[in-house]
Amino acid sequence: MRQTGNPQTDSSGNTPAALLDLLDGFRRTKVLATAVRLRLFDLLADRGALSAAEATTALGLAERPTHMLLTACCSLGLLDRDPGTERYRNSAQAQRFLVSTGRHYLGGFIQLVEEQQYPGWEDLLTAIRENRPTVWDPASRPTKFAVDDATGEVRLFWNAMASVSSSVAEVVAHAYDFSPFRRLLDVGGGPGELGIRLCQLNPRMRATIYDLPAVCELTAFRLKERGLDDRLRTFGGDLLTDDELPRGHDLVTLTNVLHMWDERTNDTILRKCHAALDDEGVLVIAEAFVDDDGTGPQPAALMSLNMLVDTVGGANHSRAAYESMLARAGFSTVRRVPVPADAPAGVNGLLVARKSERPGHA
Ligand SMILES: C[S@@+](CC[C@H](N)C(=O)[O-])C[C@H]1O[C@@H](n2cnc3c(N)ncnc32)[C@H](O)[C@@H]1O
Repeated sequence: MRQTGNPQTDSSGNTPAALLDLLDGFRRTKVLATAVRLRLFDLLADRGALSAAEATTALGLAERPTHMLLTACCSLGLLDRDPGTERYRNSAQAQRFLVSTGRHYLGGFIQLVEEQQYPGWEDLLTAIRENRPTVWDPASRPTKFAVDDATGEVRLFWNAMASVSSSVAEVVAHAYDFSPFRRLLDVGGGPGELGIRLCQLNPRMRATIYDLPAVCELTAFRLKERGLDDRLRTFGGDLLTDDELPRGHDLVTLTNVLHMWDERTNDTILRKCHAALDDEGVLVIAEAFVDDDGTGPQPAALMSLNMLVDTVGGANHSRAAYESMLARAGFSTVRRVPVPADAPAGVNGLLVARKSERPGHA
């Protein structure tokens, strides 16, 4: 092997730098989550730019860790430091997404990642060796969502969805022409962001958000609070155990829902969706699909492992796998619809399936 200046560099110029950078991933996650938990971004939004000493006092911390945290946040693009005044302020992205009073606050999702997913991922080895979730104990309940609302888990998950779903909904709503549709059933619709956005963009559309009763309670309250309950309603049910879904819809959507289950379970869910559609109805699946050749892309591949630590049997399936499931459920044609390359990690395309061969909307 030809040696270069760096003794660890091989003849192709490979160094360990990229791998060492990979190893830093957990540190980045923790800096972001900890700064949010300390309400650093709220502090700087309230008080404007602060010196390190002022931030130390306001946060009630020691000087040493505060300095380190401020430096790390600058290095990650979360804070800007004015070299003249030596004061720190929120970067534009922190100001938009990390201030708790903001409309685009991601705190709910960051909390879910830190409190639930992070500890589960710590035991990824067990999840892989034993093919089971590590975020929750499958011996204690049949599914992740079979929890007593009093545990707060439903609210934690709902808050997380509410904080990230609007960006996914925005992408989905613009990726396809939804204007011909009148009656949407958003299955596993969670906080209802997709239904809300589609109804805003398509004034003649009405939507039913179908989800577990405890989730629907939170969503119904939100719809009422925002004055949206005239065109959007919730329908509490369990898509695993209900014999059928509410019928009479020309559009059914499944956004980041089917990756929670294996193909056999999805076959059953898709058959129920098929029955819920009018003859010329259309089903839209939006997720982060794994490539058909099983090589990525990275957000979908990592989300798929997240389904290992978080579900029994779930996985981010490929478009080809869904095409087979849709065919088995009786759908006629399936179209692959792209989304912009800079779409948020939760969605990298749509699958649009027509119920029947007759000329319809797809
Ligand atoms: C990952 S979230 C996606 C939520 C929403 N589609 C979005 O994109 O924001 C999955 C949703 O499926 C719902 N869900 C899970 N199991 C369910 C079941 N058995 N019946 C109905 N909904 C269920 C969850 O409550 C949650 O709202």
